[in-house]
Amino acid sequence: TKPLRIALAGVGTVGVGVIKLLDTNADLVTARAGRPIEIVAVSARNKGRDRGVDLSPYAWEDDMTALAARGDVDVVVELVGGSDGPALALARNAIAAGKSLVTANKAMIAHHGQALAAAAEDKGAALKFEAAVAGGIPIVKGLREGAAANSIERIYGILNGTANYILSTMEHSGADFGATLKDAQELGYAEADPTFDIEGVDAAHKLSILAAISFGAQIDFDAVDCEGISSVRAADITQADALGYVIRLIGMADVEATAGESPALLQQVKPCLVPKGHPLAHTTGATNAVVAEGNFSGRLFFQGAGAGDGPTASAVVADIIDIARGETGSPFSIPTAQLVPMTRAVSDNRTGQ
Ligand code: HSE
Repeated sequence: TKPLRIALAGVGTVGVGVIKLLDTNADLVTARAGRPIEIVAVSARNKGRDRGVDLSPYAWEDDMTALAARGDVDVVVELVGGSDGPALALARNAIAAGKSLVTANKAMIAHHGQALAAAAEDKGAALKFEAAVAGGIPIVKGLREGAAANSIERIYGILNGTANYILSTMEHSGADFGATLKDAQELGYAEADPTFDIEGVDAAHKLSILAAISFGAQIDFDAVDCEGISSVRAADITQADALGYVIRLIGMADVEATAGESPALLQQVKPCLVPKGHPLAHTTGATNAVVAEGNFSGRLFFQGAGAGDGPTASAVVADIIDIARGETGSPFSIPTAQLVPMTRAVSDNRTGQ
């Protein structure tokens, strides 16, 4: 059988994880994909850096975008990051060339996911982004496929590993914010610019993607009410503890019926008090957790590593396996063109004030 040929753009934490996974689990991945998965070409910003993996078996492209034009590549795996710039250029070119795209890039999907998905559908190619949301947790598949028969009424949870690592470490050790952030960066959880982790932007990217899948809504990242954890002080954590709570950065989305034609979508990310007995309070370190409430499934709870090389690589390769099996079409629960626009619900209005 013909192998599925992969180009890998970006060989950082996650890219190295993908190379290692494809090597370690080669036999089972081949069996499940129905054919071998072969990396044929790679590109990254820095060719010479020691990554602990041997890149010599693969063709090297200095210009990342050139991966999209290679005739020996079926699928481009984009692990560069950034909502625009080289990642977006590569994604557009790959899809225009009829190749499928697998990405872990939540910022790009939050901003351009709909246009990319529509272009991929036109070309009969696949766009897949399981790794963009909640690392190793199969939440995109869980909502899109596992919960496909449900009307999802609400989703909420912990969508940023770095912020959760900081909050949960500070509550146990009383550790300093800056030192804890540095640990999270060294462990490979944080974004290149950790401002996105700290200010809730990364969680907002992911929430807007999950909302689109859950509610059949157009992705509307700009409508997320977003507040991060930079205003949370050690004293707030101590005070919450005394009252029986922990503080978690929670992303939440739900849909409200309105008198107008389109429903209103509430999307917010903010630090919340969570009772110590709640499963979200037991979600510590870089773990993520998502609660989805379906009208027939009842409450579903997804939990797992939200960041890091192995978990994120696990999600990337699952998408590659789907493509090897022949899956194409909308990455959302309905065709991309049918996603509905929703008005922005503002949280302050919910109390009628
Ligand atoms: N910086 C992200 C996080 C990585 O901390 O959750 C996973 O998207």
